[in-house]
Amino acid sequence: MSSGQNEKINQQLFLKQVPTGIAGPEDFETKESPAPECGNGQVLVESHYFGLDAALRLIVRDSDEFLFRVRPGDLVRGTAAGRVIESKLSGYEVGEYVLASGGVQNFIACGPGELERCDVSQAPLEAWLGGFGVSGLTAYFALIKECKPQPGQTVLVNGAAGAVGSIAGQIAKLAGATVIGLTGSEEKCDWLVNELGYDIAINYKDSDWYDQLVTAAPDRLDFIFDNVGGEVLDLSLKLIAMRGTVLLCGSTSQYAQEEMRGPDNYIWLGTMRARMQGYVIFDYVDQYEEARTQMAGWIKDGKLKIPSFAVSGDVCDFPEAFKQLYEGKNLGKMVLKLPAAI
Ligand SMILES: NC(=O)c1ccc[n+]([C@@H]2O[C@H](COP(=O)([O-])OP(=O)(O)OC[C@H]3O[C@@H](n4cnc5c(N)ncnc54)[C@H](OP(=O)(O)O)[C@@H]3O)[C@@H](O)[C@H]2O)c1
Repeated sequence: MSSGQNEKINQQLFLKQVPTGIAGPEDFETKESPAPECGNGQVLVESHYFGLDAALRLIVRDSDEFLFRVRPGDLVRGTAAGRVIESKLSGYEVGEYVLASGGVQNFIACGPGELERCDVSQAPLEAWLGGFGVSGLTAYFALIKECKPQPGQTVLVNGAAGAVGSIAGQIAKLAGATVIGLTGSEEKCDWLVNELGYDIAINYKDSDWYDQLVTAAPDRLDFIFDNVGGEVLDLSLKLIAMRGTVLLCGSTSQYAQEEMRGPDNYIWLGTMRARMQGYVIFDYVDQYEEARTQMAGWIKDGKLKIPSFAVSGDVCDFPEAFKQLYEGKNLGKMVLKLPAAI
């Protein structure tokens, strides 16, 4: 039986070609089709927001460097925050807000394995894709379970004004550490200090940024929370503290490079008995709920801000928004706000 929903037009985003350089509109293709039918045991979700994740550039490379891959011709991977508009799945009602992992498109028909309920009394819907979603949880588990910074210690966060970094700095502050952020503009530096409570923020595009970091960290760096890799990580390694930890969260600066480059200054790890540690959020998937309860408490008490940077558009505007992410336009999580969200 027809649901009636299939009269709605569904824009879907496909990868057209393996990008060279920063991915942009020329690398993607939007196709339109009727909205999918809601099958038995499924819900039909209308997408309201998509998060723009730096890691997408890694996933569309012609290589197996990450856990997943999107090849030319594939629907682009993505999780929508949206609303159930039809339900043939017991336990889910029309009107509920959910995360649906079904690719970048306006309508997603999916079963319980691809769904997560969003309690919008804990955080607004768009935050479930960012600071209250995987980005924020990445920062949470990296700091609370892996790094465990203590009062008196110093934490350096690079990519500090991004989705992960904006939460990482705040949680490191809650742990009592001194927190230094590296980011790409004066405006972002001011925002980190004045809005998010970073102790010091440095623009890594300043020619003397490393000298500024030396001055900012007289007792060296107990933790380097690395989101970007490249030269920013490389020079910072010279300041790692005795038995310090470099947490390898991401390598944004390398994802679009033909040849990815590792750090030259690794020798400081040996001298300082320090370590570099890999980290993937999915190891903590069974603890997300517990973490969100803690984070919701911090939000309620005014101790944690969940910054979101929304650009309005439809599915066809996703590639332009993605390009802007790599140009550093975002303060906090960049999300695409679709017409259905208004
Ligand atoms: N390990 C995990 O489980 C996990 C989970 C989620 C995300 N991640 C990783 O965490 C990192 C941050 O992700 P995100 O979603 O929070 O992205 P994001 O930081 O919100 O956005 C990317 C930011 O990177 C900066 N950037 C762009 N090109 C750069 C370059 N060449 N050098 C230095 N900075 C550059 C820009 O800010 P500026 O203005 O500061 O340059 C831009 O705003 C990514 O590498 C991602 O893959 C890892």
